[in-house]
Amino acid sequence: MAGDWIETVAEAQRRAQKRLPPSVYSALLAGAERGVTYNDNMAAFDELGFAPHVAGQPSGRELSTSVMGVPISLPVVISPTGVQAVHPGAEVAVARAAAARGTAMGLSCFASKPVEEVVAANPKTFFQTYWCGTRDRIVQRLERARATGCVGLIVTLDWSFVHARDWGSPFIPSKIDREAVRRYAPEVVRRPRWLAQWARAGGPPGLTAPNMVVAGETPPGFFDAYGEWAQTPPPSWDDLRWLCQEWGGPVMIKGIMRVDDARRAVDIGATAISVSNHGGNNLDTTPASIRALPAVAEAVGRDVEVLLDGGVRRGGDVVKALALGARAVMIGRAYLWGLAANGQAGVENVLDIFSNGIDSALRGLGRKSVDELGPEDVIIPPGFLRRLGD
Ligand SMILES: Cc1cc2nc3c(=O)[nH]c(=O)nc-3n(C[C@H](O)[C@H](O)[C@H](O)COP(=O)(O)O)c2cc1C
Repeated sequence: MAGDWIETVAEAQRRAQKRLPPSVYSALLAGAERGVTYNDNMAAFDELGFAPHVAGQPSGRELSTSVMGVPISLPVVISPTGVQAVHPGAEVAVARAAAARGTAMGLSCFASKPVEEVVAANPKTFFQTYWCGTRDRIVQRLERARATGCVGLIVTLDWSFVHARDWGSPFIPSKIDREAVRRYAPEVVRRPRWLAQWARAGGPPGLTAPNMVVAGETPPGFFDAYGEWAQTPPPSWDDLRWLCQEWGGPVMIKGIMRVDDARRAVDIGATAISVSNHGGNNLDTTPASIRALPAVAEAVGRDVEVLLDGGVRRGGDVVKALALGARAVMIGRAYLWGLAANGQAGVENVLDIFSNGIDSALRGLGRKSVDELGPEDVIIPPGFLRRLGD
């Protein structure tokens, strides 16, 4: 319906805020400590400019590309996020929306829906894992994802277990028990549409992590799974080389900001990397990922596919990232706002906002395809770039 159309990601965020209980909204907003990185991820895109043409542009524009061998109809991939119980459709609704718009989906190992349901909704699914538990446990989870048909693996490395936020962390229950109901009741009564949605779906979210186990095992609660991860010593680059070999297919290393780490990712056999700081949820005051992208792309862009995520909110941001060396971007909060606002249709809407915006920016720049974009398409102010590592 025309009235449901959401014009921008900012509007999707406003609608999500109106719809969700404040604690749930705040859990999605996240942003570690003072939120310097969270804010810089978005502010940095605004510092970059365009110099548009007004006539002589090509009449049609090509948005399609591929990531890790998977063809996608626009250079925007769903980044894995672990808290999609904001809407009963959760990861399955997101997967359907991504499939409807011809793009790929990263599925978090902390997702609320089983990988089998997600792959059935979108065969272009990449399974995302952390370095969590013993090697045997990791292999078991990978085998399940591979057997299900996941077409690539995303290994996310940038997490330092920073839980403090200057604006206050919301209460997130480990399960919906009497205490959770008591604490949430004052918020939830002011969000009747959100409550009604869950009532229609048969009850509140389960808050489990079904992809952390293999067939026949009871899924752990989200916090139990998180605890297992917190107790696992960080991986070495040799561990990660082993992981790439175990998977035996395309692997993306997500969370790279430094040139030296990007080179190591190439050395261990990664197919792709995502220049990313976890959307500003990790080590605060890490620079915006777009500031670090050009140095990384210059160093390894011929050896691996370079993606970027963090702060992407409009088609113009995607075009800026591609011009500075990314093959595609991944989006996090943008689609979560769409999901919260309007389920599958809301995510499709957000993907359409990106397609339209990319198309307009290409037209303005006189480019007929995303492959033609280069640094000359973007005005980079002095002092913008950050080269991290050597
Ligand atoms: C609520 C939330 C949950 C997330 N969970 C995961 C996760 O489980 N795995 C992962 O690799 N990244 C996770 N991320 C990071 C995203 O994949 C992505 O890097 C980030 O959201 C990009 O920034 P953006 O939100 O500004 O687009 C999460 C981000 C948010 C906001």
